[in-house]
Amino acid sequence: MSLQSTMINGTEPSYDRTKDLKAFDERKTGVKGLVDEGKTSIPSIFVRPLNDRFKDLGTSHENLSVPIIDMSDVGKYGEATAKVAEQIIWASENWGFFQVVNHGIPLELLENMIEGAKMFHEQDDEIKKQFYSRDKSKVVTFNSNYDFYKSNAANWRDSLSVNTVNTGKVDPHELPLICKDVMLDYIHNIIKLGDTILMLLSMGLGLKPDYLKELESSKAWNLVCHYYPACPEPELTLGTSKHADASFITILLQDQIGGLQVLHHNQWVNVEPIKGALIVNIGDALQMVSNDKLKSVYHRVIAKTIGPRISIAFFFKGLIKSPKLYGPIKELISEEEPPLYRDFTLEEFLTHFVNRPLDQPGIDHFKLKNVGSKASKVSFLLSYCPTLTKRGVIALFLYSSFPFYV
Ligand code: OGA
Ligand code: NI
Repeated sequence: MSLQSTMINGTEPSYDRTKDLKAFDERKTGVKGLVDEGKTSIPSIFVRPLNDRFKDLGTSHENLSVPIIDMSDVGKYGEATAKVAEQIIWASENWGFFQVVNHGIPLELLENMIEGAKMFHEQDDEIKKQFYSRDKSKVVTFNSNYDFYKSNAANWRDSLSVNTVNTGKVDPHELPLICKDVMLDYIHNIIKLGDTILMLLSMGLGLKPDYLKELESSKAWNLVCHYYPACPEPELTLGTSKHADASFITILLQDQIGGLQVLHHNQWVNVEPIKGALIVNIGDALQMVSNDKLKSVYHRVIAKTIGPRISIAFFFKGLIKSPKLYGPIKELISEEEPPLYRDFTLEEFLTHFVNRPLDQPGIDHFKLKNVGSKASKVSFLLSYCPTLTKRGVIALFLYSSFPFYV
């Protein structure tokens, strides 16, 4: 028995968690495989430690809802578009989440995408098993819980992922046959909508309209089709643990079951399903480049006795191998609002995100210490300098030759 197994679920000292994780993984049929067997209790690997359940914040009973933004006026004329941009910025600053309606993607395509994802997860196990993998270099993978061997309780969820962060593209022949056509159509439409939202965010931040698009976040993406089977003991586990997304933005499509919750003013607020709507949220990368103006907030999915629940997450991430350096946008920083983060490459950021302790925010690692100090003032000056080498030379110069600078 490993030490880890006794420590994590202190209530059950004799259970070997690592062995159970491996046994579950080797079956390659995911959480749905357990439900198909007719289990009426959940295996220990899914049970959250008692401590974590005790620490849970409450769910809001007030009539609170994430902002709902009508996009029908976008592109009509300047003033109307600017108004939508303003609403999107308000929502991104205050909630980090919003729902968009009249976004231009037909309801039929949204419904077909959900149906396509459902068909993938509910097809013959033998076909599905061929996609089962945890190999991060692969574009198309099916598995249960991407952080299965790191988390202290597994989530009641299976996922099919199409991840282009390494390649920037997907060969259609690699997609599962059962949902290939609808996926290609959905990807095409969501990228277009994502670019429109990036344009509105740029405008709302007072930047030129294609500023955020030029950061190349829509160049590479990750589409994840989640399947949350009905759970016999939902109070003991979660569908998705509390987390913030690593993306620039995420566009999420959920079915009508519900379960997604957003942390707002220290309480969980349900994101109510709206037919035809898409949910948009700001990810960590955009929080950092916006210098904390836009917020990447915690969210989670609770488990339910009803199901399956299907959701389709589309993360705008950018190419992991891009040589581009990211950091707080220089137009958004000033002496009064100094940069809060150091520059980073997407490789550094995304690698840190998957390797960090799960309960820690991904962005803390990139925070500049002592904002208002010499370091952050130097960083502010450097942001006006175009090339890396020049910036390095000036940094050294400021630090060593001008100790009186601050
Ligand atoms: C995610 C996520 C929410 C959902 O995939 O990052 O937050 O409703 N999903 O599935
Ligand atoms: Ni998320």
